Amino acid sequence: MNNNISLIIIFLFGLIVNAQNKNSYQKEVEILLSKMTIDEKIGQMNQYNGFWNATGPEPVGGDASKKLKNLKSGLVGSMLNVRGVEEVRAIQKIAVEETRLGIPLIFGFDLIHGYKTIAPIPLAESASWDLEEIKKSAALGAKEASAAGINWTFAPMVDISRDARWGRVMEGAGEDPYLGSLIAAARVKGLQGEDLSSPHTIAATAKHFAAYGFIESGRDYNTVDIGVNTLHNIVLPPFKAAVDAGVKTFMNSFNDLNGIPATADSYLQRDILKGLWGFDGFVVSDWGSLREMIDHGYAKNKNHAGELALNAGSDMDMESSIYLQEIKKLLVDKKVSMEQIDDAVRRILKVKYELGLFDDPYKYCDLDRESSITNSNEINTGALEMAKKSIVLLKNQKKLLPLKKSGQKIALIGPLASDKNSPLGNWRIAAENNSAISVKEGLEAFKGNIIEYSQGVRLVNKIPEGFHEEVQINNTDKTGFEEAKIAAKNSDVVVMVLGEYGFQSGEGRSRSKLDLPGFQQELLEEIYSINPNIVLVLMNGRPLVLNWANKNIPAILEAWHLGTQSGNAIAQVLYGEYNPSGKLPMSFPRSVGQIPIYYNHKNTGRPGADGEDAGSVFWSHYIDEKNSPLFPFGYGLSYTSFNYSNIELNKNYLENNDDDYLIASIEISNTGDFKGKEVVQLYLHDKYASAIRPVKELKGFEIIELDPGKSKKVSFKITKKMLEFYYNKNDWISGWGAEPGDFDLYIGTSSATKRKIEFELLK
Ligand code: BGC
Repeated sequence: MNNNISLIIIFLFGLIVNAQNKNSYQKEVEILLSKMTIDEKIGQMNQYNGFWNATGPEPVGGDASKKLKNLKSGLVGSMLNVRGVEEVRAIQKIAVEETRLGIPLIFGFDLIHGYKTIAPIPLAESASWDLEEIKKSAALGAKEASAAGINWTFAPMVDISRDARWGRVMEGAGEDPYLGSLIAAARVKGLQGEDLSSPHTIAATAKHFAAYGFIESGRDYNTVDIGVNTLHNIVLPPFKAAVDAGVKTFMNSFNDLNGIPATADSYLQRDILKGLWGFDGFVVSDWGSLREMIDHGYAKNKNHAGELALNAGSDMDMESSIYLQEIKKLLVDKKVSMEQIDDAVRRILKVKYELGLFDDPYKYCDLDRESSITNSNEINTGALEMAKKSIVLLKNQKKLLPLKKSGQKIALIGPLASDKNSPLGNWRIAAENNSAISVKEGLEAFKGNIIEYSQGVRLVNKIPEGFHEEVQINNTDKTGFEEAKIAAKNSDVVVMVLGEYGFQSGEGRSRSKLDLPGFQQELLEEIYSINPNIVLVLMNGRPLVLNWANKNIPAILEAWHLGTQSGNAIAQVLYGEYNPSGKLPMSFPRSVGQIPIYYNHKNTGRPGADGEDAGSVFWSHYIDEKNSPLFPFGYGLSYTSFNYSNIELNKNYLENNDDDYLIASIEISNTGDFKGKEVVQLYLHDKYASAIRPVKELKGFEIIELDPGKSKKVSFKITKKMLEFYYNKNDWISGWGAEPGDFDLYIGTSSATKRKIEFELLK
């Protein structure tokens, strides 16, 4: 048989097997559903947080023993925060062996950026713009977590945000819906892999549906009030991209959107997600978000909250127990229907089948696999690669970087320089405390220089009420300044590691100020007065306000919270073993007062000349600050330099159909001394439209690598599809389209690029 024919036969066979699998899941689900009592169905819709040590003695009395009793009665469909093979196996055994139908549990966990081996925080990873590396990082996280019994993560968080005060920006991909959509898809594909039934992949969750990133004043859990334009063009695209990438579950959110709590938002969950987008997985509530609708002032009581949530399409109740307590009564009272319950249960069972849990409920429970995969070299190597690519060079004057590898006395100063906990960032539930490689350790691995370390501002251990221990930056004690000043005086170069401690960003960690916390700014200024040869390494989970540093400090490296391999990655970049290539996924403001600040804003009727100086009073500006950010979206330097020239279009019009396209191209040369990578960025601007369009929108990018002296022509294909946006028709189904007219096309090194060319979309 010739090769082609055999390939076709294999392909057709694959299609048949696939189709059978799909159908058989449907059949299996229906058979199982037909055997279930109403209590067992409601049980599948109930998720409990891990409530007792399953491998220890059984709880007696109290809430834990009640929950265990419910588990044994088949009244639990999923658990969260249970982890480790032994624990998971012990609990799964109860579900499988002691309940009437033996339906396996699905085990959820917040695998946000690594399990035991911690990868960079998601915002940092996004700064790499490297979709393959981000996908790989998610896949490695899934491999380590699944080896510890977990088969479902509440990630990726795909919330777009323009507000650095919100601590949860660390969990997302930043401010841009285009980059955010590509990263959402990459993460979903990395976590779920090609085959969800493999023991190394897990189900992903797109969260928080929707608009949580637009909470007012950046204060966590606050209200959201945005119009359809922002909702459809900015907030929803990454969620849609996650659906298109095959994401298995969604999580709704704590916030209300225009007065309706997301958990009870039927327009979002039923009309858009399950209706328009055809999502066939299930929606889990956020932690207790059903119950919170009472505090929101939307639900009268728990019973009412259950009714609102189920009617709106929330399928699983995380930790509020409202479904368990109220659905049966709601059914009798005809406030919810059996069809709604069956639909929710079908969706949940389907994901369990797809994971292969019915074939082998213990498939994630292999002790040997757990010990060989946890903290393995493969996962650590991946974390290091990802960390290097996440670093952004913000400033490098006098070629202070890369550091010379020998003959130097380096003063290493700052509370975060030897800290092994903060680099792990927030959301690292399973990681060992203090398990990151510190900057000090990373630098000391290079032997050629003398390093003198001084903390300057001390760290203190604190335990916020009812929470785990965290290291915070002290703001009462300056006694470490003197020693640090002496170290600075005696050194050739000072490396200062400053920023936010690991738990200073994340959930519930909103800030009203974005400067360096505690005495760090003071320390920086005092050290500068002694030795200005400073490389500032920043560790933080969100954009900071860095005006003084940017004005005075010659070299600044944005190193975020980079995870387990932090110190190695930072040292390799400082010494030039890796030439930084990251680009900011979020604008860095000059002042908190500029927030929300984002590159893809609209123009106003009084934009001023070039958005900066209108030379008068009555234009859209501040009288005490510029409009522009300190560092714009897409910004990041390299140890080498790149020159952009000859922006061209092969023609200056696009036919109004789906087949025609333009080719935009540009010449890029490496004009510096190092081999380097550059993220070449394409932006479009629809100059007039039926709804005002942003001044620029990212629509493409390519990462290139060039040797010194070399050039490359980079081309982008422009299609009508790329010009589409949601315009204010009152009908959301037909709301998308491209409008004929004039467009600016920009190509450059950041969103601030002014290099443009024009074209027209014909009528
Ligand atoms: C967060 C979610 C998270 C959940 C479970 C909530 O507080 O908002 O993002 O997945 O807890 O840990």
